[in-house]
Amino acid sequence: MMAEWCGTNLKNCDGWKNVNLELSTTSNENAKWLDACIRQLVSWSDCESIGGFHKSLENLETSDPDAIMARCFIVGLTGLGTEAAGRDVDFVQKMDKLEKDAEKYGNNREKQHAKAAILWGRGYHHEAAIVWDRILDEHPNDLIAVKFSHDAHFFNGSCSGKLNAIEKVIEKWDKTEPCYSYLHGMYAFGLEESAKYEEAEKQADIALNLNRFDCWASHAKAHVLEMNGRHKEGRDFMYNTENDWRQGWMLATHNYWHTALFHIEFSEYEDALSIFDREVANRFNRTNSLLDMVDASSLLWRLELEGVNVGKERWRKIENLGKYIENHSIFFNDVHLGVALYRQENQETENSLRESLENYSNLPNEDNSQITKNIGLPLYDGMIDYAKGNYDEAVEKMYPIRENVVKIGGSHAQRDMFVQTLIHSAILSRKPENWKRTQNLLLERNSLKSNSILGERLATKFRILHPL
Ligand SMILES: [Fe+2]
Repeated sequence: MMAEWCGTNLKNCDGWKNVNLELSTTSNENAKWLDACIRQLVSWSDCESIGGFHKSLENLETSDPDAIMARCFIVGLTGLGTEAAGRDVDFVQKMDKLEKDAEKYGNNREKQHAKAAILWGRGYHHEAAIVWDRILDEHPNDLIAVKFSHDAHFFNGSCSGKLNAIEKVIEKWDKTEPCYSYLHGMYAFGLEESAKYEEAEKQADIALNLNRFDCWASHAKAHVLEMNGRHKEGRDFMYNTENDWRQGWMLATHNYWHTALFHIEFSEYEDALSIFDREVANRFNRTNSLLDMVDASSLLWRLELEGVNVGKERWRKIENLGKYIENHSIFFNDVHLGVALYRQENQETENSLRESLENYSNLPNEDNSQITKNIGLPLYDGMIDYAKGNYDEAVEKMYPIRENVVKIGGSHAQRDMFVQTLIHSAILSRKPENWKRTQNLLLERNSLKSNSILGERLATKFRILHPL
């Protein structure tokens, strides 16, 4: 059975102290639930024997509502889950209270954790990542810091940050620790995003040999196969190991999205659509999470770029989006939200989102507001221009910022949606200067992501529309 390890030998207060990760709480229950929560979070799955992740999280809160480290975990998780940001009243109160209490009652490590989680929650995303990384200098075995740093660098679009953080701790770990194998999966993803594909694949295989249920390692491997253009291998790998990785339900929607990408490369659109109908849309409807919304929106958009008529009804399966329009945790979510609303013909809500983004981009303090201002708004408008058939305008907005889009976060594979849209726009543009740019854009895409059949299709489309 998967994840049975995660419910046994949970660390009590002494357990945490013995590995140099002392907690200020005196509640052994609370200490154990903290261990249960981070283990399940790192494995993206529920440990049934202790009631699953959400139950563990509830128990973590109720077993000692004042515990500092537990609250650092909850605030960090809420912020990095991108479901709440610095404008959410409850969240702000939680952060303010934690800030005061950590100063009074927290130990040194806890104070640092509180600082990082609150920085993130208040929108200082880069400083937050630095503080989580700094905890690792002294406490390389602090799995909460490892995981939060990894996620923070991901959302910050910092490929090297993600790689460096894990590289500096992995050798220092006791290999008998229950979550040790997961470090190899994180390492694999850091390497992959740094375009070190061969080493990345080795690390993913090490992780999967140690634990075949490590869905983050499967995910890293899917990324390598995607970027190397090994699409057949990728498609086979995802189906052959589906029963392993799908148990990591927190990541399963995204791993199905990766499976669909392999189909799209082969123009197997019906298969990709059936993954959307069977898995992606249904999972989004159960979780209603922004992370699942991103996969749903991205998958339909990519199919439409390929000329597939996905139908309004599919777009409308990504429902109840209105509640997210003032969230602005990360711009990466907002652009996926915007195109979904536009395609649903939910014009009023889309306009409200665009207006809210404009107001938000004038906040001077948050990292994400500045990214929204300088990269986000032109990208957003360019995507909508493309959707409206205004290809010249789409190129005008997206071409100058294309090298900075990495800063909105996500992975290369995810941001390929913007690259593809820009290339289509350049091909369909009326301006010869944009046609000239197309060759270059195709080369740029190819340098990161080789042997793409989809890239060949784009090149063919260009040659047909613009014969020399
Ligand atoms: Fe991914």
